[in-house]
Amino acid sequence: MFRIEKSEQLAEKICQMWIRAPHVAHHAQAGQFVILRIDEKGERIPLTISAVDGDAIRIIFMAVGKTTNHLAAFHAGDHIQDVAGPLGKPSETHKFGTCVLVGGGVGTASLPIIARALKASGNRVIGIVGARNKSLLLLEDEMGKACDELLISTDDGSKGFHGFAADLLKQVMAREPVHAVWIIGPAMMMKVTCEVTRPAGIRTFVSLNPVMVDGTGMCGSCRVIVDGATKFACVDGPEFDAHKVDFNGLMQRLRTYQPEEKESLEKYQAHLCACGGGDHHA
Ligand code: FAD
Ligand code: FES
Ligand code: MG
Repeated sequence: MFRIEKSEQLAEKICQMWIRAPHVAHHAQAGQFVILRIDEKGERIPLTISAVDGDAIRIIFMAVGKTTNHLAAFHAGDHIQDVAGPLGKPSETHKFGTCVLVGGGVGTASLPIIARALKASGNRVIGIVGARNKSLLLLEDEMGKACDELLISTDDGSKGFHGFAADLLKQVMAREPVHAVWIIGPAMMMKVTCEVTRPAGIRTFVSLNPVMVDGTGMCGSCRVIVDGATKFACVDGPEFDAHKVDFNGLMQRLRTYQPEEKESLEKYQAHLCACGGGDHHA
């Protein structure tokens, strides 16, 4: 069992948790993830390792469906069944020169650990954090400290640049040479934003989020097409060369189980109503 050391809400439907998991914490590197299971009957879900502190790892997640809503109801002192990891290949964080890290929504959670690793390798690091509005902006302070420069964008103009992170990326590329870019966020945002760097031939990484089950390359559920070949995101990724990813295929596969996921969330919510609230033991 794995103890939740701290739990807090960062924004609407977005939770941050520190979980004691010494084996994972001692081996985790930037870009890796865990697969966790809340209890014996629970499904497995992948979440990025967003930071490490001693024996604990931090996860930051959006409550989108049954399992993430269930997890959001847990508090400090509660325990969850399994935390497997660290999984996936670490980010390539050698010296490139100037690196830009672009985060969209909850994808921003993955960036500070990458920013710190890139800084440690001697890179200049520029962060761009985007969100629909200012209440959904994540980790501004932490990204401000981890990066040499931090730029903010909101779709509605409530904070920072009024527009998309992709526009800020264009501005940075227009003013100085950029040698590598990370874009982490919803699949559509990554698909659109990586077109900014394609004409300039800038090395661009995205972290893919297909449905994962075992996380060890055995079940095949996380297959994605990269450069025309089938890859398993859990062992070959989750980071890939953005300009070689078949994003349309990824987005289609992400929708595969939507009817079942909707039904599962509705059943969970109905059960919560029947027993009178947000008890995580529901
Ligand atoms: P459901 O209602 O079951 O599903 C909602 C949507 O989530 C689905 O339509 C599908 O797109 C996706 N999803 C569902 N099951 C899975 C699954 N087993 N694996 C992957 N995606 C699934 N989310 C975060 O908020 N923070 C993170 O740091 C984060 N890191 C991730 C790292 C990796 C490597 C991957 C692959 C995904 C990551 N995700 C992250 C997405 C997260 O795993 C899903 O949001 C979560 O599994 C949804 O579970 P659910 O039961 O609450 O929702
Ligand atoms: Fe099963 Fe990747 S999650 S092969
Ligand atoms: Mg689910």
